[in-house]
Formats: sequence, C-alpha cells, structure tokens
Amino acid sequence: MVASNGINFASICSLFSFWHKIFYIKNAHNTPLNGASQLKALVLAGGFGTRLRPLSCTRPKLLFPIGNKPTLDWTIEKLAKSGTQEVILAVNYMADAFVQHYKRSKQKPKIIFSRDTPSQLPLGTGGPIKNAERLIGHKEPFLVLNGDVLTNIDYAKLIENHRKKDAIATIALYRVKDPSRYGVAQLAKDNRIIRFVEKPTRDKAPSNLINAGIYVLEPEIFDYIPAGRRVSIEREVFPRLVEEEKLYGYNFKGLWIDIGEPEDYLKANKLWLDHEIKKSQIGKDVHIKDGVEIKPPSTIDNETTIGEKSEIGPHVTIGKHVTIGKEVRIENSIVFHGAVISDSTSIRGAIIGEAAMIGSKVKIESKCLIGDHAIIHESVTLVQGVTVCPSKEVTESVLTPKCLM
Ligand code: GDD
Ligand code: MG
Repeated sequence: MVASNGINFASICSLFSFWHKIFYIKNAHNTPLNGASQLKALVLAGGFGTRLRPLSCTRPKLLFPIGNKPTLDWTIEKLAKSGTQEVILAVNYMADAFVQHYKRSKQKPKIIFSRDTPSQLPLGTGGPIKNAERLIGHKEPFLVLNGDVLTNIDYAKLIENHRKKDAIATIALYRVKDPSRYGVAQLAKDNRIIRFVEKPTRDKAPSNLINAGIYVLEPEIFDYIPAGRRVSIEREVFPRLVEEEKLYGYNFKGLWIDIGEPEDYLKANKLWLDHEIKKSQIGKDVHIKDGVEIKPPSTIDNETTIGEKSEIGPHVTIGKHVTIGKEVRIENSIVFHGAVISDSTSIRGAIIGEAAMIGSKVKIESKCLIGDHAIIHESVTLVQGVTVCPSKEVTESVLTPKCLM
C-alpha cells in the first residue's frame, strides 16, 4: 500500500521545511525574467477523493493509475513539455504518498511540496494558493491546476491568451452537456467572464462552458485570498474578480475529464487509452500464455501473468504483478496491482482494487468498485455499481446498487 511507508509525521514536516528553505535560497538569486522563463505551476492535490472511496482510502485519487502511470504523472509530463520549470504540489490528505512517489524524481520539472497547514486542516481550492505565495513569488503569472483533471490542453496557448488581456485570472473553459457538477462561466464577446457560478442547478446554469480547473493567475491574486483559512477560489475569489472585470476565459476543445467518480475514472481511462496511448503496451516480464488476445488500446504492467485463451481489452489498464487465469474476459476496466483474477471470470466496466482476489466464474460489471484485498467467491455476480469495502469477503451475488461493508 502506498500510504503506509514508515515515515512519521515529524520527519515529513522536517522534509517539507528543508525543501522550503532550499527553495527560498534559490529564489533569492533569481535572475531577471524574460517571458515565461521561470514558469511555475501549482497543482491542487490535497482533496479527499470522497466519491472514489474506498479506493481513495488507501491512496490519493491523483495517484490512481491510468494506462499504467499515476494520473498526476501524465499532467506533470505535459507541464514539462510546455516548459514548466517548477511544479508545486499543494498536498494535504495522504501527503506522504505524494512525497514517497515524487521524492526521487530527478526529471524536470523540479517538484516542490506545499502542505496545507501543519495541522492538516484542508484549505480548499483557494487557501493552498495563498499558502504557497512565497514559493510562487510575485514576479510572473503562474499556472494553477486541479490535479484530478486529465487534459491535453495547450498550456502555452492559455498563457498567451491571458497575456493579451488585462486579467488577474484567466480560466480555461470547456463545453459540456450538463454543467451542474462544475463551475460555470458566462462570457462577453471579448472573453471577459461576466458571471461565474459554482455548481448551479441545471436550470440556473448561465451557459455550458465550465471551469476546467486550469488557471493562469497574476501575483495580484494573493491580495484576493485571505490567509490561514479554507477558501474556495470558485465561490469567494472568482465572483469578486467578475465584479472588478478582471476575470477572463479561454475556451478550448480537446480532451478533458475530471476523475471525480468511478464512472469518470473509467471514462478517463478509456479516453486516455484511445487518444494518448492508442495501442497496447505490454510491460517487462509479462507472461502471456497461448491463445490470449489483447485488444488495443490496453496497457499491461510488469510481471503480470495472463492464462490461456483469455481476452483482455479494449480499454483495459492492468497494474503490476496481476495474475489472470484461463479464459478470463476483461474489457473497459482498471485492475490495480497485485490482484488475482481466476479462471473463466468476466470483468466489464469495473475497477478492481489492489491485491483483490476474484474467484472463478465471477461476473463483475457496470461500474462496480472492488476495494483493496477484498475476496469475491466463485460464481458470484456483482452488477449495477456495487461497491465492496477493503478486505470484505463476498459469497453471494448482489444485483442492485449497494455498498458491501
Ligand atoms: N491542497 C488541497 N487542499 N487541495 C484540495 C483541497 C484542499 O483542501 N480540496 C480540494 N483540493 C484539490 C483536489 O485534490 C482537486 O485536485 C482540486 O482541488 C479540485 O477539488 P475537487 O474536490 O475535485 O473539486 P470539484 O471537482 O468538485 O470542482 C472543481 O473542479 C471542477 C473541474 O473539475 C471546481 O474548481 C469546479 O469549478 C470545476 O468545474
Ligand atoms: Mg474534481
């Protein structure tokens, strides 16, 4: 399990303060900046991921795999390609899992951590920005991203658009059918946002353009965020900027998805495999027996075994050390590392947690979510979004939506 790593709270705190000190020394010697030469991005990574429980009880949702890479790795890679020099991860819930995952990263961009507060009180979506004020500095506009979003947006274009306007903030906007789960913006002709409403009811949404959770902010933004408390940038800061005519939008097309719920997570996996990964990727030391068919796009991580005549894919992400028996059928699903899936089982549109044990002739379908180390007995059928808690043993079929504790 990612979270239990033997590092205690005190050592994490001292690690953080060490990073902060290093940063301050470096920042004090910054040379004058040209263009976006020191582009920094703050990634909000401290949410609880409540809608993805129980999988998010043991790891932060930003580290859930998509195509055999934690979701956040994809974002950091894209930031690196756009010339981001430094990524500040605003962490809170399960901060140590992020530290463990990124502390040895030698690749660019440099990754720095900013913890909400020592008492771990969540600061919301605005508080972590104020909290990282000294790390970000006051020299240049910077990017802020909701870490649970997967997108192929062109960050450079977003920044370019921001620079053309007299904006304190520019929000990337994305058109969706139902905007009620998001922040919604109404645009004037010059792309100034004239209304911003967070999670309106469907009939009250002023448009279908939603806040994609990607912003360019000017350092003046720090004056709009009170220090030391939870702040919602969407409810407290954006409406004020609307009043002052300093909030702009940048409407983009392409891939975009927020992995808030199991259904979104499965959709994100499908979308990413289709458009970014495109083919099937097989890791090292994967044992594939006779008659196995792997339908692209799918990814199978290292040291996994697939038994005779099994059919895997399309749209399947399989983690490391997974054992799959004979004549198993898996499609449109995510299997976390160490899971065991026995002979003649079929898994469609489901998420299987770490080291879960799935018996033979089992059927798991339609958005079911199986917690880590759960045991599903032979011939059981689970459908309609059944959620199974970690380590739970299931001996009978469940055909209606339920959480099995
Ligand atoms: N550090 C820290 N501390 N991060 C946090 C906290 C916190 O207390 N609370 C949330 N976050 C992070 C989450 O990890 C996530 O990456 C991001 O902030 C957004 O939080 P969510 O909880 O996922 O918000 P949402 O999806 O309901 O709504 C937000 O995102 C939508 C787009 O996906 C809003 O920004 C909406 O306006 C937007 O449309
Ligand atoms: Mg979200």
